Amino acid sequence: MNVPSHYQSGFTNEFATEAIEGTLPVGQNSPQRVAHGLYAEQLSGTAFTAPRHANRRSWLYRIRPAAVHEPFLPLTHATFHNRFDEAPATPNQLRWDPLPLPDAPTDFIDGLTTLAGNGGPAEQAGVGIHLYAANRSMQGRFFYDADGELLIVPQQGRLRLATELGVIEIEPQEIAVIPRGVRFRVDVIDGEARGYVCENFGALLRLPELGPIGSNCLANTRDFLTPCAAYEDVDGAFELVAKFQGALWSAKIDHSPLDVVAWHGNYAPYKYDLRRFNAIGSISYDHPDPSIFTVLTSPSDTAGTANVDFAIFPPRWLVAQHTFRPPWFHRNVASEFMGLIAGVYDAKAEGFVPGGASLHNCMSGHGPDAATFEKASNADLSKADVIGGTMAFMFETRKVIRPTAQALASPQLQGDYYTCWQGIAKHFDGGNKP
Ligand SMILES: [Fe+2]
Repeated sequence: MNVPSHYQSGFTNEFATEAIEGTLPVGQNSPQRVAHGLYAEQLSGTAFTAPRHANRRSWLYRIRPAAVHEPFLPLTHATFHNRFDEAPATPNQLRWDPLPLPDAPTDFIDGLTTLAGNGGPAEQAGVGIHLYAANRSMQGRFFYDADGELLIVPQQGRLRLATELGVIEIEPQEIAVIPRGVRFRVDVIDGEARGYVCENFGALLRLPELGPIGSNCLANTRDFLTPCAAYEDVDGAFELVAKFQGALWSAKIDHSPLDVVAWHGNYAPYKYDLRRFNAIGSISYDHPDPSIFTVLTSPSDTAGTANVDFAIFPPRWLVAQHTFRPPWFHRNVASEFMGLIAGVYDAKAEGFVPGGASLHNCMSGHGPDAATFEKASNADLSKADVIGGTMAFMFETRKVIRPTAQALASPQLQGDYYTCWQGIAKHFDGGNKP
């Protein structure tokens, strides 16, 4: 199996990894003295008493405890926040062009812009949906998000995510998840980077149940990669940025907080290559609901009703007979935010471009545009359609996704989006009544 040497394979396994051999204590978590003069620290991502199958925590063995820093002071950030009630939520279908890449030096944190969201960190439910556009690495600063885990979806440029628990590198068509509270730095590998972030305030993302599909397919467990331990032993004048209850805070710290020499546990960052997703579809007629494309899900307290689902629309074959093959016209109780990483999305002929975004909220009608409808209605179904070279994704939530004021005022908002359905013709024949 092709697992790069600094990753461990599996989804939230009970991992154990050490950058210096012999660091992890044997048979206990917190010995009186940790090897090499390190400190033991537990990082809990779920309640202590969460059920065993959902319980997530890791033990970190580090040069200094996380408590060692100066007091936090408020940090102003004009565009990154959780204010989802600034503007009336609109039932209109919304679509945005890609966020422009910055001209001024901008790192990952500076380059975050909040597009929409629901719920919030105080209620531990909902999501924040953000875009990032950056042109330099975070220099002398580190970040953690106490409000939620971060699902990072690059659209342009590779990122190196140097975290307390090791280093993850991702490129477009890969994703990474940084758990709530884990400190990290983002390096921009290719000079410029752009993408999407889902900040999940609710239950931790997990793999969906497979039901009658069986024990394989969709995202397979072994394709999730968690980094091996890697540490920085660096002193200096650094900044630690925290996101806490929707606002940013800044503290001085005199060392790199990425100083974990060894760790064990199941609360850790991970990456996944979306191109490894084993897509399932119809081989007879019609097609399944798009939940069949769920990569990860954050369940809510209501069975089968997710706080957020992360679904993708990867390359695949369409072979169903007697069937309108693209996504049908629909209205959902759930709300759908979509992004496009590469290629063309099969329900839209134009206007939805890589780096762009669309939002179709609860009960807002949407579906294929007029050109796509006409083409698919007259397609030769004796031949398979190949959807290649594309990767679209969706953050689907149970609650309405409320666009921020800056998203509604954005020059990237397409005022004419609704016109893609205006050309849909009336074909009704009147029932052939005389
Ligand atoms: Fe939809």
